[in-house]
Amino acid sequence: MFDPRDPVFLEDPYPAFAALRSRGDVHFHEGLGIAVAVSHAASSAVLRHRGLGRIWQDAQPLERFASFNLLHRNSLLENEPPAHTRLRRLIAGAFGRGHVQRLRPMVATLAARMVDDLAAAIAADGSADLLEHLAQPLPVAVIAELLGVPATDGPRMVQLSNAIVKMYEYGVSAEGRDAAERASAEFVSYVRSVAAARAEAPGDDIISDLLRSELTPDELVATAVLLLMAGHEATVNVLGNGITALLTHRDQWERLLASPALLDSCVEELIRFDAPLQLFERTATEDVSICGYVVPRGEKIGALLGAAARDPEVFDEPDRLDIGRTPNAHLGFGLGIHYCVGAPLARVEIAAALSALTEKLPGLRLVGAPPRRPEFVIRGLRELRVTA
Ligand code: HEM
Repeated sequence: MFDPRDPVFLEDPYPAFAALRSRGDVHFHEGLGIAVAVSHAASSAVLRHRGLGRIWQDAQPLERFASFNLLHRNSLLENEPPAHTRLRRLIAGAFGRGHVQRLRPMVATLAARMVDDLAAAIAADGSADLLEHLAQPLPVAVIAELLGVPATDGPRMVQLSNAIVKMYEYGVSAEGRDAAERASAEFVSYVRSVAAARAEAPGDDIISDLLRSELTPDELVATAVLLLMAGHEATVNVLGNGITALLTHRDQWERLLASPALLDSCVEELIRFDAPLQLFERTATEDVSICGYVVPRGEKIGALLGAAARDPEVFDEPDRLDIGRTPNAHLGFGLGIHYCVGAPLARVEIAAALSALTEKLPGLRLVGAPPRRPEFVIRGLRELRVTA
């Protein structure tokens, strides 16, 4: 069984997933204390099964995690129907495909400007960090614009968000837990003050829309923070992991340069090939059978999205990066009622970043092997140094 803190495993978890998959769809992971679904069929079943839900359990002790719990207890991601349905309906319109298509020009302008900054930094210093200049700021700027918060607060929101999501990993230290609570408290008061300002002077942003809805004050804060966090945590890592994959499979980078029509299928393939979000847990609300494995009521099972993404039953030569891959039934955005509400937006952002990069920096190359972050659930890089 894999050890989610082992650097060798983290460098390339896919052989370990393949070995597990060859022995069965679902396995009990002693270290994590949950069952894990490693095939595409089993992961899909976990995400769709109505006897498996996202059942929030407050972090303990309650008095130490007041803000962290407030943000999660009231979030649509951590709720099931009917609360989930009500919360999701309120934001679904703003993130719908039609609405998001209208954001394309704004996202393209931001991406082009950031790639120009990256090119200038490379020209000045010989190399630059693509995460710092493009992958990190682009999704933050877009979600800040949508929610009507100042883009200059972006870097601080990233820090807070990074501290909060550490809690989704396994074996978090006491220090890490306290840091997550402090970040949650700061995020709560930040969003409360933005909401107070919007209540005074409404705009055409999502926070103003939410203020006009029937959300409770805590639901409003939790929804806004979820959007601000989810709006960049995964996208930054699709860009980081994905661009690394393209530059290490140079033929696929060259193929994209030669065939811009492959942009959309390239986006899907990058999400599949090195999943930014590796595991999502569900709790059984009744005894549930997944591919013959019984999850007793009250127990948990995780869908390993990265393992599902390399299942040869569904993907031809799953370990090959193929930017023209169609169909591409990856589970990177989830499935079922929690299916990623931001998927249309994420696709537009990733396409805009790739398009600006291929156009302005066709000679883009890695400088050394990019260092990984030591986390398993959110899979990403610490830095992505490039030159051109
Ligand atoms: C490529 C980037 C992204 C990936 C791979 C991704 C992936 C996912 C996945 C797998 C889920 C389902 C979680 C589960 O089933 O437990 C999800 C849910 C969600 N995502 Fe994303 N996401 C991305 C970008 C975004 C963006 C840009 C937003 C912007 C607002 C966003 C907002 C959300 C929200 C609000 C949910 C919760 C939906 C619900 O519970 O009904 N995501 N995302």
